[in-house]
Amino acid sequence: MMQPLLQVHGLTVTFPTPSGPVPVVRDFSLTMGREKIGVVGESGSGKSMTARAILGLVRPPGQVTARTLQLEDMDLMGLSPRGWQALRGKKAGMILQDPKFSLNPIKRIGNQIEETLRLHEPIRRGERRERALAMLEAVGIDDPVRVYKSYPHELSGGMGQRAMIAMMLVSSPNLLIADEPTSALDVVVREQVLRLLDTLVTDRGLGLILISHDLPMVARFCDRILVMYRGRVVETLDARYLDAATHPYTRGLLACLPSPATRGHMLPTLSRDPSWEAA
Ligand SMILES: Nc1ncnc2c1ncn2[C@@H]1O[C@H](COP(=O)(O)OP(=O)(O)OP(=O)(O)O)[C@@H](O)[C@H]1O
Ligand SMILES: [Mg+2]
Repeated sequence: MMQPLLQVHGLTVTFPTPSGPVPVVRDFSLTMGREKIGVVGESGSGKSMTARAILGLVRPPGQVTARTLQLEDMDLMGLSPRGWQALRGKKAGMILQDPKFSLNPIKRIGNQIEETLRLHEPIRRGERRERALAMLEAVGIDDPVRVYKSYPHELSGGMGQRAMIAMMLVSSPNLLIADEPTSALDVVVREQVLRLLDTLVTDRGLGLILISHDLPMVARFCDRILVMYRGRVVETLDARYLDAATHPYTRGLLACLPSPATRGHMLPTLSRDPSWEAA
């Protein structure tokens, strides 16, 4: 069998509180290849923490434990801070909701992309510039030279997001985690960025983990969907068969979706039930 891209078993993230450690991610497991995995769940269900844990970005006092955390043949649990840094950007990258938090506001876009490259590949300056410009073009930016010279605040939200994707992809990672990458964008730009991600995933053969609140969007875009509720994966679905969902939380989400049948009627609101966690 081909080696999976990512193997996670029993990943748990806890934070200390006066009344003892509180888990915010509980026993998360995922084995994936170069496919598109969606992670959905309500606010606070642990989606971002899971992503951060997979990339070694949980800061103390948060604590990460796992039986397995492996990217291709590399065991990540034993990595030093320096090892994690080398991994991120080279083999794995993360795109965040708002490029403002990920792009450095006082550096030009081109320099930021080149910096990522310089960390990982000993190539000449001229070649770095060419690679950065080519990457900006690859993410659908028509005037790469202008964007290359721009500061983040000079770009629109959609352009900033594209620049961020370019920065993440320039070192050819195998795994990309996108945490609400489009929620700050308007509908049209959102579609464009999703289509771009789709093309990049297909062309470059990446594995993608897409985190979102938006179940229909994730279902359209991904192959498999993990549903998280209060720190746990409560259901794993084939994106083509959402109707097969059995967990009440997922069924509740589905019932809240507008459809021709519900048009003109009030949508049901979702209430929670403590017994869901046990399911
Ligand atoms: N530094 C921290 N210390 C303690 N608890 C934290 C810390 N950061 C996050 N948490 C808790 O971890 C839980 C999971 O948070 P996480 O950010 O993963 O949720 P999420 O599913 O990404 O939510 P959203 O959809 O709002 O982004 C939340 O209950 C949050 O309060
Ligand atoms: Mg989040």
